[in-house]
Amino acid sequence: MTKTYNVAVVVGSIRKDSVNRKVANALIEIAPSELKLKLIDISQLELFNQDLEETPPTSWVEFKKGIKAADAVLFVTPEHNRSFPAALKNALDIGSRPYGQNVWSGKPAAVISASPGPIGGFGANHHLRQCLVTINVSTMPTPETYIGGAYNLFDETGKLINEGTQKHLEKFAQSFLTWIQKNATSL
Ligand SMILES: Cc1cc2nc3c(=O)[nH]c(=O)nc-3n(C[C@H](O)[C@H](O)[C@H](O)COP(=O)(O)O)c2cc1C
Repeated sequence: MTKTYNVAVVVGSIRKDSVNRKVANALIEIAPSELKLKLIDISQLELFNQDLEETPPTSWVEFKKGIKAADAVLFVTPEHNRSFPAALKNALDIGSRPYGQNVWSGKPAAVISASPGPIGGFGANHHLRQCLVTINVSTMPTPETYIGGAYNLFDETGKLINEGTQKHLEKFAQSFLTWIQKNATSL
């Protein structure tokens, strides 16, 4: 029987019409059947405060459960002022604590960034990779995926209509499957 992998998809944008969520949804459609991708919402997470670690809010508990249950994580992020958004940093911090109970640890991951601008969120993509090192996440190096001009890649229903991007995401998804097969340690 073919082995399947549960992948938590964490989108760094919490806005309704997020182009990054459109990218995530396109990838969910494209991904090989071995990857079971599920969006994990970060919009309702209370702001991280170390004082709350002993009696964490329900939103933190549920979020950590969702990440813990996943075999791997896919991050799809916008760029805010050349870094990734505060909402995503909040989610990373919540998942990483209390000390010794880091739910990200050991999971294979991959990063996509998307922006209407020409650089495709390169700064956000690499700032995120830097933080993933310290929480012990093995991030797939290539194919690097910085999606520029992202507002022009989707129709009004949110469907991906750019063939080049579609092909790249297919290659990305196949590579991510291979990366997970090589690096999933908790299986
Ligand atoms: C606070 C803020 C900072 C931004 N900084 C950048 C930036 O550094 N680079 C960039 O390419 N776009 C930047 N943008 C534009 C975003 O790429 C754009 O709003 C994009 O649609 C966000 O992704 P989303 O649609 O998934 O929310 C910024 C937007 C905001 C609100």
